[in-house]
Amino acid sequence: MDKLYKVMTYGCQMNVHESEKIAGILEELGYKEAGDTIPDIYVFNTCCIRDTAEKHIFGNLGVVKTEKKNKKDMIVAVVGCMTQQAGYDALLKQKYPYVDIVLGTRNLDQLKEAIFNVLESRKKEKKYKYMSQEMVQDYLETDDKIPVTRTSYPNAWVNIIYGCNNFCTYCIVPYVRGRELSRPMDAIVDEVRRCLDEGYKEITLLGQNVNSYGNDLKDGHTNFANLLKEVGTLDYDFRLRFMTNHPKDLTEDVVEAMASSKRICNNIHLPVQSGSNKVLKDMNRHYTREKYFSLIEMLRKAMPDIGITSDIMVGFPTETEEDFKDTMDLVEQVRYSNAFTFIYSPRQGTPAAAMEQIPYEIKKRRIGELIKLQNKITKELSNDYVGNVYRVLAEDVAPKLEGMVCGRTESGRLVNFGGTKEDVGTFFNVRIEQSKSASLFGKKE
Ligand code: SAH
Ligand code: SF4
Ligand code: F3S
Repeated sequence: MDKLYKVMTYGCQMNVHESEKIAGILEELGYKEAGDTIPDIYVFNTCCIRDTAEKHIFGNLGVVKTEKKNKKDMIVAVVGCMTQQAGYDALLKQKYPYVDIVLGTRNLDQLKEAIFNVLESRKKEKKYKYMSQEMVQDYLETDDKIPVTRTSYPNAWVNIIYGCNNFCTYCIVPYVRGRELSRPMDAIVDEVRRCLDEGYKEITLLGQNVNSYGNDLKDGHTNFANLLKEVGTLDYDFRLRFMTNHPKDLTEDVVEAMASSKRICNNIHLPVQSGSNKVLKDMNRHYTREKYFSLIEMLRKAMPDIGITSDIMVGFPTETEEDFKDTMDLVEQVRYSNAFTFIYSPRQGTPAAAMEQIPYEIKKRRIGELIKLQNKITKELSNDYVGNVYRVLAEDVAPKLEGMVCGRTESGRLVNFGGTKEDVGTFFNVRIEQSKSASLFGKKE
């Protein structure tokens, strides 16, 4: 009987893609995806961006403990960002003794060896835990050789840069993902080409800060604008997206490259975090609200129909009522098509965690007001789509909507329209007939 695997993915798109690499490694070893069956190997690909993410993972690890009681030879692996925090190797060793393998963010290539080692030691009836969390600097070469089992057709994720050098004072990512490492441009273009040859219709370039792509290579040519020009002119019928952008590094060259390529979507995720200059400074973000407004103006001038989304945080330790009002005011002025909103969560070892914290009730009220405002704006902007025709890539069958598929406009808006599984991966002209807050409903032309 086939051995089965299950990968549990938490966190950002970077992790979603890394789980495709985990699946690639396991399939090479002969494992098959478990679906709803209890697997022979569980891999938890973890996130630690907020406390809620960690709580969720620990809760699910608890469930596995019971499953493992009934399936004694099950292997449990915990990999990714959470494992990379100070003290977590000891914590996982003591509190979760049934976890067999712990690998950090730059050790995925060791998964195969780790599984062998665990199986070998079991033959000898030895209790054994494989752990490796070294922040290797020459990670790119080993990473490039990991097989990928893609699970997001018609979209293909392609990494362009790993790690982060920015050290925003609230954020754990630079500590758990290490310093920036850019992949060479030809390796990226090759991977994109391969995906397009295989029939993928949308490419999403990934990095914590795509705009600093190439800085570490220091060759005078490798930068994000040049990469966009190169990928954006590949001669296939496809869409190009990318994330995430940092306002301090977004250049006019990138905006020009976006505007001049018909493959690059008129869509940008440009997290602002806060609308207050004081808070932005305390967050170590290196831009002001004025600079942010000028970027929005530049983007809209170059691409009038661009969809702009953001990440916004409330409750940073130094955020006063006045600062929060500045955030609300910025949101009113920018009019994002959508925004991810977060309550600030102190992260061990980051500068902001050592500051005096704001009471939870205040954070809760602020996030409530912010969500209400953004929902109102999203709804108003949705109404503007009704009656018009947009090119939409059918991405999946619509969840819970019989006889419908879902996809996005170039600007990133979600559209549900009549269709079947066979339509997934095809572009359609869709007339929007109805809007419901964030999603739109339409009909093929
Ligand atoms: N690299 C990306 C985002 C990484 S994390 C960027 O720089 O924009 C995704 C989002 O999580 C961030 O944009 C931020 O809004 C939020 N986030 C990060 N750390 C957080 C924390 N400690 N508490 C709450 N939200 C946080
Ligand atoms: Fe975190 Fe800031 Fe880096 Fe984004 S840019 S990953 S928010 S430190
Ligand atoms: Fe989470 Fe790591 Fe991404 S902490 S948000 S999975 S980079």
